[in-house]
Amino acid sequence: LFGRPWIFIRGVPAMKFLPPEGPPEIAFAGRSNVGKSSLINALVGHKGLARTSNTPGRTQELNYFVPDGFSGADDDLPPMALVDMPGYGYAQAPKEQVDAWTKLVFDYLRGRSTLKRVYVLIDSRHGVKKNDEEVFALLDKAAVSYQIVLTKTDKIKDAGVPRLIEETRQKILKHPAAYPDVLATSSEKSRGLDDLRNAILTAIAR
Ligand code: GTP
Ligand code: MG
Repeated sequence: LFGRPWIFIRGVPAMKFLPPEGPPEIAFAGRSNVGKSSLINALVGHKGLARTSNTPGRTQELNYFVPDGFSGADDDLPPMALVDMPGYGYAQAPKEQVDAWTKLVFDYLRGRSTLKRVYVLIDSRHGVKKNDEEVFALLDKAAVSYQIVLTKTDKIKDAGVPRLIEETRQKILKHPAAYPDVLATSSEKSRGLDDLRNAILTAIAR
């Protein structure tokens, strides 16, 4: 699946615009600017697919990406969808707008039956923050399976990566819906991508 081209199919600004529940969905959540859109591009090998930016608050809708080559008819649905999400936390946008994105993200995460796995992205330089903990708690409560992905490992010393993985693992061990293995990635340097691709394929198969 990751060897073929992927396409953008839909941007969802509010829950009522979600597509009918169908193929398994894998969502990418995390604080603004953590690298969600960049990671999706790296995974599918298509740089400009999801829009990225230096400015926090780039992604403003739930954006659906699927492998190309499926008509979308009931008997020809794509095997999965990757869902890029607006970031939570700081964004360069008016407060009402940021609040609306946060609500959309939280409503989707707790109420989507076809959501198979959430990848919660954590910036290697910043570690787990209070609003990440809020998302962990929400996913635990909703019993939605999630896994932590450290991003931008190219921005820290190589020797610091194993320690950061272990520190993060210790933090999430107490969370019932969290997968205990922490993945470490760099979209910039294409690190950790195969492990994440394999984890995604395993998650949709269960
Ligand atoms: P929002 O949509 O605003 O929430 O952000 P996002 O989480 O989608 O982040 P995005 O992918 O737009 O990336 C934010 C910034 O981080 C961009 O300037 C990217 O180039 C940079 N970035 C993303 N991944 C990496 C990485 O692996 N290494 C480095 N060095 N920079 C990265
Ligand atoms: Mg984005």
